[in-house]
Amino acid sequence: MRESPQRHAVFGHPISHSLSPAIHHRFGQQSGIALSYEAIDAPPETFATQLDDFRHAGGSGANVTLPLKTLAFERCAQVSDYAARSGVVNTLEALPGSGWRGHNTDGTGLIVDLTERHRQDLRERDLLLLGAGGAAQGVAFALLDAGVRSLTIANRHAERADALADRIGQPGRVHVRYWNDLATLGSWDFIINATSAGVQGTAIDLPFAIVAPRALCYDLSYGRAATAFLAWARTAKAAHVFDGLGMLVEQAAEAFAIWHGVRPDTEAVHAELRERLDAA
Ligand code: ATR
Repeated sequence: MRESPQRHAVFGHPISHSLSPAIHHRFGQQSGIALSYEAIDAPPETFATQLDDFRHAGGSGANVTLPLKTLAFERCAQVSDYAARSGVVNTLEALPGSGWRGHNTDGTGLIVDLTERHRQDLRERDLLLLGAGGAAQGVAFALLDAGVRSLTIANRHAERADALADRIGQPGRVHVRYWNDLATLGSWDFIINATSAGVQGTAIDLPFAIVAPRALCYDLSYGRAATAFLAWARTAKAAHVFDGLGMLVEQAAEAFAIWHGVRPDTEAVHAELRERLDAA
């Protein structure tokens, strides 16, 4: 008898362009695991009810994306150590009976993409993190764990950058700078765009002077949302310029491993999606 497929979903708002269903279906095929995975549009006001409904309908695991990662954290009965540190959750694992255990696989996804796919050494790099919202919170701890020398956080609204720095609590290594002062503060050899400017289609105003000669520039988003930052980084002559497609695939593989106990091979799926994005 065939087992009925395990039910999964990604919640977000907006969500219609999410690549997560395609990624998880391919992982399932590769691993011989029967699963269903749908995209559920959930505005913050109704997310909690929609998540409960999903669970009652047999949902066994979910991903959560913008703008729901903090709300997801608050819905969890248990969280992993990493999720507890970051305060944001992108992966929900059904606990036996009821309730969710929350994880955050974004940080690991980013580090695997940078170090294994792009062969970058992160140690001793001085990192400028642009943005201090859920996305920035999700990766900051993993970057510090990976050995970056210093982390400077710049956010349009400085109080959010201060709050993230306070949450991290490493004053010798983590600094906050005013966004409007960036042009006068020197340069960084590692710059991550964790703002939602690209996703929201708003302009991001950045001086070229912040890019050091051997700089690595990375946008956590991909596709059209990453175009403006990546073009800016190339014009500023950054040595390495990457979008977040690899991170997306790697965070999905980490989530898949939490739910199914196997970490799928990501190369074929990444190559397929890259081709699809290049053709779009
Ligand atoms: P996410 O979960 O994607 O991080 P978020 O928590 O709403 O979403 O955070 C969005 C981040 O992008 C914030 O750091 C925001 O800056 P503010 O806190 O100052 O609003 C940043 N952001 C959004 N649009 C931006 C823009 N056009 N330029 C610079 N930063 C921007």
